[in-house]
Amino acid sequence: MSDLTVLGVETSCDETAAAVVRLSASGEATVLASVVGLQTDQHAPFGGVVPEIAARAHVETIDSVVAEAMARAGTGWGELSAVAATAGPGLIGGVMVGLSFGKAVALARGLPLVAVNHLEGHAVSARLAARIDYPFLLLLVSGGHCQLLRVDGIGACTRLGSTIDDAAGEAFDKIAKSLGLPYPGGPALEKLAATGNPDGFDLPRALLGRPGCDFSFSGLKTAAAKLVAETPEARRADLAAAVQAAIARQLAERTRRAMLACAPDLPPGERRFVVAGGVAANGAVRKALQDLAAELGWSFDAPPLAYCTDNAAMIALAGAERLALGLTDPLSAPARPRWPLDAAAAAERPTHLPGRKGAKA
Ligand code: KG4
Ligand code: ZN
Repeated sequence: MSDLTVLGVETSCDETAAAVVRLSASGEATVLASVVGLQTDQHAPFGGVVPEIAARAHVETIDSVVAEAMARAGTGWGELSAVAATAGPGLIGGVMVGLSFGKAVALARGLPLVAVNHLEGHAVSARLAARIDYPFLLLLVSGGHCQLLRVDGIGACTRLGSTIDDAAGEAFDKIAKSLGLPYPGGPALEKLAATGNPDGFDLPRALLGRPGCDFSFSGLKTAAAKLVAETPEARRADLAAAVQAAIARQLAERTRRAMLACAPDLPPGERRFVVAGGVAANGAVRKALQDLAAELGWSFDAPPLAYCTDNAAMIALAGAERLALGLTDPLSAPARPRWPLDAAAAAERPTHLPGRKGAKA
């Protein structure tokens, strides 16, 4: 296999992103350019992402974001091996913008199209900056997802657990909102928590004795909202610190179970743990997981912060890895609001009531 150079496009939430990534014949990834256009200012007045506003903003900026990525990479269109675009899961209006843009590029330039699952992008994101061989245990924690997956390779993920209500990032965002913090809430809550003492509040510990690796954050969200109303301004930082510690603790507790379940199949040198997704940017979460990995003898990797939150470099890399396996998609590839990585587990053991169109993730 020769080197592959792939343009990636990501528009599934509120980042309009494009990147160019080269995957060498020996499997090494180099990010030639990664551009992320943020729409935060447009959503901030509403306290969260408004799908319609996101889709319109993607339409307005996708062209210039892709042009900037190509210019920064110094790559001519003729040097590209393929174009990869997120085809789901996500906000459907936004997904359609990026996927249609990717199809147009593929058609105009005669390139193969790779329709990428956004979650597979997060799954490979740590491989953008470090050599991490398959298989690895992945904790994917973002605003929309909270899952533990065993990743044996591209297209080969087994879901070990998932949230039965909110995602961890959603919990950060909603609790931040009830604390009166600006959107996006996760980073704002972490900043406030930095000056607080986490020990003063009694918060619920969801699913504590329950077997398996599922997560639940709705009890914490309700308890925190109640405490916010009773807590004086001077103690808000302590409450933020307590909430952050509770989320970190649950993530580590469930990851511990997944590590113990996977360990018997893996020789000690092959126990690799990766955390990815926006919440992996949180220092307390990283530390809890790092300590756990050290305790149980697993390696620990997290992508650099720029690749934790949504970006197109991870989509380009997932696309390049798919292309290397000969996996491309026709121009009729659908945009999918719901698209579980482990479709069998999602169908057999849905953590949410499956909607009309099936399990979300
Ligand atoms: O991966 P991502 O950019 O988008 C999704 O695919 O959801 O994750 C965004 C989520 C948001 O909920 C945001 O509040 C959270 O990641 N997040 C954080 C931090 N940075 C981002 N949560 C806690 N602490 C942070 N430092
Ligand atoms: Zn994401």
